[in-house]
Amino acid sequence: MNPMSELASSSTDTPVLPLITDFEAVPSILLPREHLDRRLIVGFEGYDDRSRPFNLLRTRVAKTLKQRGWRMIGVTSATPAAGKTFNAVNLAAALSKLEDQRILLCDFDLRRASILQMLGIGVPTAINEYLDGTIDDCGKAVYRINNGNLYIMPVNEVMRDSSETFASSRFLDIIARLRAMPDNCIVICDLPPVFANDDTMLCMEHLDGFLLVVDHGQTTARQLEESIALLRPTPCLGTILNRYQGGFADDYGYGYGDPYGLKSYGKRTSA
Ligand SMILES: Nc1ncnc2c1ncn2[C@@H]1O[C@H](COP(=O)(O)OP(=O)(O)O)[C@@H](O)[C@H]1O
Ligand SMILES: [Mg+2]
Repeated sequence: MNPMSELASSSTDTPVLPLITDFEAVPSILLPREHLDRRLIVGFEGYDDRSRPFNLLRTRVAKTLKQRGWRMIGVTSATPAAGKTFNAVNLAAALSKLEDQRILLCDFDLRRASILQMLGIGVPTAINEYLDGTIDDCGKAVYRINNGNLYIMPVNEVMRDSSETFASSRFLDIIARLRAMPDNCIVICDLPPVFANDDTMLCMEHLDGFLLVVDHGQTTARQLEESIALLRPTPCLGTILNRYQGGFADDYGYGYGDPYGLKSYGKRTSA
């Protein structure tokens, strides 16, 4: 494939190379099944009952993105350990089972990156090495999962001072290359909690929308409202009620709190 044929234009009409130019050429990693089972990463298992809530979430997210022409979303929460990475990984896995769709899961929780641990794998080169200047091509930090439609851009060593990183030209370059990806590619960004620092706000400026993970019994209504207010004008696609043990949730502790009905919160003023 000729990469030049895949060139897209940025707002300044400078050609931007998509992050992945040849999906088949990306190095693939096979996931350890037992580890996935232990960590309840069930989104890959279409016939496993436990993947049902993620399939439901997948359908709603895919429909909303299609209707609005959006392709880059974040997953965040008000406070730490709410289940952002757990839900981002399971959602990405479930979406990757759809035909003709490519999913790219990016670890942008640079201070507490955990996608690799969640998947039980390691990688030789990761996105932190592009951001700190060790490597010069962010395309070298992308991996394909199980030879399927899921691709990841992970972090293999946490970065302490990430606020400046999110404002750096290298980060902006990653965003431009993500934007230049083909239309059938959905980018899911695993983000830090909103209240931890300004990383999430900085990153959110570049995304089309976000999902807010609500930790049942932990996240308060006020935290939810303040998170949405802080992240404006980027719209909230909806909430994921995690660890819910009753009502319309299922036996596995997930529920789809949808008090916002996948409505838009705030209108973007720019793309
Ligand atoms: N619904 C759930 N069922 C089982 N384990 C969960 C669930 N949600 C989160 N966890 C576990 O709780 C821990 C914290 O979740 P994580 O997704 O890492 O939080 P965050 O990314 O918001 O900091 C992880 O060990 C994760 O596997
Ligand atoms: Mg996390």
